[in-house]
Amino acid sequence: MQDTIPRTSAHRHLLDVDAMTRSDIERALDLAVEMREARAARAHRSMLETETVGLCFFEASTRTRVSFELAAKALGATVVDLSVAGSSVGKGESLVDTIRTLERTGVTALVLRHSAAGAPYLAARTSGMAIVNAGDGMHAHPTQALLDALTLREALGPLDGRLITIVGDVGRSRVARSNLHALVKLGARVRLGGPAAWVRAFDGWPGVEIATNLAEALHGADAVMTLRVQLERAGVSGVSLRQYVADWRLDEERMRLAAPNSPILHPGPTNEGVELTADLAEGHRSLIGRQVENGVPVRMAVLALVTGAA
Ligand code: NCD
Repeated sequence: MQDTIPRTSAHRHLLDVDAMTRSDIERALDLAVEMREARAARAHRSMLETETVGLCFFEASTRTRVSFELAAKALGATVVDLSVAGSSVGKGESLVDTIRTLERTGVTALVLRHSAAGAPYLAARTSGMAIVNAGDGMHAHPTQALLDALTLREALGPLDGRLITIVGDVGRSRVARSNLHALVKLGARVRLGGPAAWVRAFDGWPGVEIATNLAEALHGADAVMTLRVQLERAGVSGVSLRQYVADWRLDEERMRLAAPNSPILHPGPTNEGVELTADLAEGHRSLIGRQVENGVPVRMAVLALVTGAA
């Protein structure tokens, strides 16, 4: 958790995984496991009763927004959902004005998703609220990385020395960036695979291998994560969707190139039939459902940590 910014309360921020140490990450994952049990037992229902959690999503979201809402409610927080269409943001109010307004109305912890990389950092600098980054542009998505790490740890055991391959639209993926930090800190080897134009941004990243064909990407992988092709993000792509599907779409047969029974992950939402086949997504290797399930307890843990309740 980032706590370098002077604060008047126990509040902290979660802006990205890069500010977390390995033990911070492990503590968050262990706490998530506890939170899963607490939620089932309906325990901790007043843990955040003095907090007001604002959900401020400037970009579309289903699983992230819903799981933050359920997480905050499971811990007894007051929750305000500020959907962009119905708020003054749609009238052109600046981000800083919105942040100040939310703070004045009593929001104490803000979950922010924004198309501009760095928006949560601005919020952390200009307010006294605890800020949780729920995805900023192509930069970071720390709670997704934490829930992916939990899902992988529960499937594979400790990640030290395990090879995790991430394939697809890696360069434009905030999920890939945050996963890279988390997985490397947890001792995993990370291999990024995809068309050269999509992976070259990571050339030279410490501890990261690059593969530009599928066989090389999957060889020996203990788990494979594929990422949504970011059709809505403009800019250089250099690869046709048809070519991507021909070369990179994962199916049961192609998964045989990885280690036997290696699981498949996808942060969702999927473009049906583009990143992987429906059979693979629903088959025995798939951890996609587990990823969604782990979203709530991981976000319970994060909210408890940033507000100083845990
Ligand atoms: C991701 C996101 O929004 O960054 N989805 C998610 O949070 N589950 C990935 C994506 O949009 O492709």
